[in-house]
Amino acid sequence: MSFRRSVLFLCHSEGALATEESGGWGLHLFPLLTIHGLTSTIPIMKALNSIPKLVVFPPSAEVDRQGHLIIGGCDTVDLARRYGTPLYVFDEAALRQNCQEFKAEFSRRYPDSQVIYASKAFLNRALARLLKEEGLGLDVVSGGELSIAVSILFPPSRVYFHGNNKTRDELELALDWHIGRIVVDNFHELGLLNELAGKHSIKQDILFRVTPGVDAHTHQHTTTGILDSKFGFPVSTGQAEEAIRRALAAPNLNPAGLHFHLGSPIHETGVYEMGIEAVFKFAAAVKKKLGWEPHEFSAGGGFAVQYTLDKPAPSTGDYAEAICRRLADMTGTLGLKPPRLVVEPGRSIVARAGIALYTVGAVKDIPGVRRYVCVDGGMGDNIRPALYGARYEALMASKALAMETDTVTIAGKYCESGDILVRDTPLAMAEAGDILAIPVSGAYCIPMSSNYNSIPRPAIVFVKDGKARVVRRRETYDDLLRLDNGKA
Ligand code: LLP
Repeated sequence: MSFRRSVLFLCHSEGALATEESGGWGLHLFPLLTIHGLTSTIPIMKALNSIPKLVVFPPSAEVDRQGHLIIGGCDTVDLARRYGTPLYVFDEAALRQNCQEFKAEFSRRYPDSQVIYASKAFLNRALARLLKEEGLGLDVVSGGELSIAVSILFPPSRVYFHGNNKTRDELELALDWHIGRIVVDNFHELGLLNELAGKHSIKQDILFRVTPGVDAHTHQHTTTGILDSKFGFPVSTGQAEEAIRRALAAPNLNPAGLHFHLGSPIHETGVYEMGIEAVFKFAAAVKKKLGWEPHEFSAGGGFAVQYTLDKPAPSTGDYAEAICRRLADMTGTLGLKPPRLVVEPGRSIVARAGIALYTVGAVKDIPGVRRYVCVDGGMGDNIRPALYGARYEALMASKALAMETDTVTIAGKYCESGDILVRDTPLAMAEAGDILAIPVSGAYCIPMSSNYNSIPRPAIVFVKDGKARVVRRRETYDDLLRLDNGKA
């Protein structure tokens, strides 16, 4: 028997109750009790989101009578036993739902729009196939990401190639494969691409990546729309205009449009509006001078997601509304043709669909200071807390109904004091062998993972309708030795 997030009010933690009181969770009469997918109509008094943390798990998240966290119909404690930990678990239904939501929210406001997924957030062949089936495009930033797309015959016309220093080999690979768009970042690339496209007898469609000089107020490592950025042609210096001038004169390039990406994650929808305003004023000036206007415009990615209970994010609809409305207003006012709109969500497609599972080992008390709960992963599979100060929630997947009476710091196993996954977080009393879940781990964890301390990378499973399939097996010590030429 399993309970959806809504029926556990009476048995859940003091921590949850405190949150409910301080955050004003209301009491509601809730008529539905879910028993392994079957819905009974037993009326039950409950609080909305009575395990508040489930809000940041995939929508399928529920807890069974043993107190085990269930995702996509699979018991996460069983998954941990079967596949080992650390383990990354993705809910396939949530991935598909996010793709469909993006497509629907943008296309109903701006029919000529295309959603392309930013692969850097997380990519493998299973996900690429799913994205292909859902009709999304793909944004790739390397020959490696491109190779994954090629390997599953992703439609090349829906692939966009980004990056501030694409190599000759990478550009050749893209041209060989007749990729849809190359997003040109700088003058070196403009010249090189024109030369290579000529060699391949191709007139390549390109977008210009421009920096409109808009601060997205993200972490400084992930802000990209300001003048002092390694990405793109600045608008304010005249370099963006010069790039268009040169491309118009280049025989093997077809300038199709403009692109910006302002940063990630962006919590303010107004930032996109400011960027659009700046870019389309620039486009109107270019049209007057050069007679060229963009047929396509990409507003990049950067859409925020909710990682922690105290920091909600705008909805997909909120972002779509701001971008589509501003684009239509600006092009209307300036007398430009409404271009095709492209958006490049990465994080918002995969982040909440994925969770990380760890096994608790040592629990270390420093009296009067803090209690460290040490897990078998850490900065090797999730560098984000160490790199950006990123914050997460944590839930004991093996006893999700237990009272969260403790406040602990969850430490990884890597040899750095900075290897802390979650600081000062409420948790049920931890013991060795417990399985801990960290939600919203689907984006930028696995792709930024490393073999630091020669620790093998985790396995990844996709879950759906109570079934799990391994989409990436756990690395072994042999894998670590495979590329090491021991004879040298
Ligand atoms: N388009 C371009 C050109 C990008 O550079 C990025 C992300 C995206 C789209 C997708 O952004 P998203 O929708 O995923 O926010 N490692 C950092 C995030 C770096 C983002 C890099 N570019 C993190 O873990 O937060």
